[in-house]
Amino acid sequence: MIGSICGTGSCIPRYTMDNNELAKFVETSDEWIRERTGVIRRHIIKEETTVSMASEAGKRALENAGVSAEQIDLILVATISSNVLLPCTACEVQKNLGAVNATCFDLGGAACSGFVLAYNTAEAYLAGGVYKTALVIGSESLSSITNWNDRGTCILFGDGAGAAVLKAEEGVRYLPVTHSDGAKGEALICRSRYDTNGITKKTSDASVNEEEYFIQMDGQAVFKFAVKKVPEVIKEVLVLNCLEKKDIDLYILHQANRRIVEAVAKRLGEPIEKFPMNLQEYGNTSSASIPILLDELNRAGTLKPGQKLLLAGFGAGLTWGASILSLPRKPGTKKLRFGRCFTVTEQAKRVIKRKISKRKRRL
Ligand code: UT7
Repeated sequence: MIGSICGTGSCIPRYTMDNNELAKFVETSDEWIRERTGVIRRHIIKEETTVSMASEAGKRALENAGVSAEQIDLILVATISSNVLLPCTACEVQKNLGAVNATCFDLGGAACSGFVLAYNTAEAYLAGGVYKTALVIGSESLSSITNWNDRGTCILFGDGAGAAVLKAEEGVRYLPVTHSDGAKGEALICRSRYDTNGITKKTSDASVNEEEYFIQMDGQAVFKFAVKKVPEVIKEVLVLNCLEKKDIDLYILHQANRRIVEAVAKRLGEPIEKFPMNLQEYGNTSSASIPILLDELNRAGTLKPGQKLLLAGFGAGLTWGASILSLPRKPGTKKLRFGRCFTVTEQAKRVIKRKISKRKRRL
């Protein structure tokens, strides 16, 4: 069994802030932001919240999939910026949708890799026969953890939510590749406001700079990490699944910076047309960027049955990863040959490892 994407949805805050508006309170310019990032505007929450956007995106994905809330067995929400800690965002979504049969939990902290990791988690549950239908959501209100005085970060980020419904179906499973490097985590940090307690520590620690409660980023370090690691992990996931670049119809990359996407395409030797982008409209919405883009492509009719998509996320942790999926074919049409199927026994793992290092040497 595999978890097939059969519906998508998104929810974008109504309020839009373009670069010129941003330039009124931080020293920057529309020209600089467009040139260095590709971002033109971002959407910022006013009455919306991470929970409300996640719920709305989820609702639209269910409608798109033709699946009822009661049919959902699992709700996973990837977020680093929820308005609630308890109950978790996924349980709030469950309540709002009436998904009474679902098991719900959040994937916090994976940030811009969040959707890929949540997708992989849901896929594994579905492939393992634990659940039949899952709702996977990325929802962020990054504006609430952005330092609006820091031009190195505030120009990039935006708010929004995207969702996908996955159904267990017959098919060949593609294995994902994911990595983490905690030793390099300093490049992208945000301190929790809950790191003090009233007994052993002062509730307001004078040594803590207020700015530490907002996202702090070594932009150049993250940029270099992304343009090196994303092409590597894409090659890795292709080799692991015995696929080639030509087998991939679209690369759905985390929407961080246009220059990063262009650099990845160039390093892979793939045409930029295979890398759809929408960051000009939303900025970097962390875990929401991939599902928002998926939903836009779906609703625009760009996604076609049988196409192979490669999702790649990267960000805080540092974390990065890539997953390949086939869009379901319409019922009654001939099934595609989906590449090879792996039963991951220990022996198979050894064979895969050998193949990967052999192919890596060749690439
Ligand atoms: O979601 C995953 C995590 N995030 C990312 O993937 C982001 C990765 N990093 C980036 O996208 C880029 O590093 C940034 C967009 C954050 C910064 O772009 P950059 O090209 O790396 O700029 P820089 O930090 O190297 O700065 C270049 C110049 C500097 O001026 P000098 O020293 O050359 O005179 C900066 O002071 O640009 C200046 N600068 C700005 N100027 C106008 C930096 N930020 C701004 C700004 N407006 N917002």
